[in-house]
Amino acid sequence: PARAERLDDIIARHAGQEGPLLPILHEVQAEWGMIPEAAQPVIARALGLARAEVHGVVSFYHDFREAPAGRHVLRICRAEACQAMGADALAARVQAALGLDWHATTPDGRLTLEPVFCLGLCACAPAAQMGDRLVGRATPERLVTLAGEAR
Ligand code: FES
Repeated sequence: PARAERLDDIIARHAGQEGPLLPILHEVQAEWGMIPEAAQPVIARALGLARAEVHGVVSFYHDFREAPAGRHVLRICRAEACQAMGADALAARVQAALGLDWHATTPDGRLTLEPVFCLGLCACAPAAQMGDRLVGRATPERLVTLAGEAR
């Protein structure tokens, strides 16, 4: 109930604006760390949108999650400078080693793998971030080790 009220509150604050959907989603994400599936039809109804439209926006933007993230998040940069330095191959090897696709979380809720678009470490590409720690010239071995150390 508290959650439903809070959601109504967030919607009411943005409903009069132009293009209210993204600000509403950002605020919901900030509040709960995800966009709960149950919130999507409520938002759709309030804005006069189809549920599929809201869902489409949630799945399109990398910032929005539909499931809670794990305790630790490993981010691998997929922007241009890192791509040029083999970020795709790096990501593929890390994904295979961890058994995680993008946005997926280990079954024990320990680790989530996310793409990120530039960490500001382009000079040390390919770059990654494990928790708060930035990793330049990342190798699959290093990232898998760091991921394994995160409890
Ligand atoms: Fe990867 Fe900038 S492009 S850190």
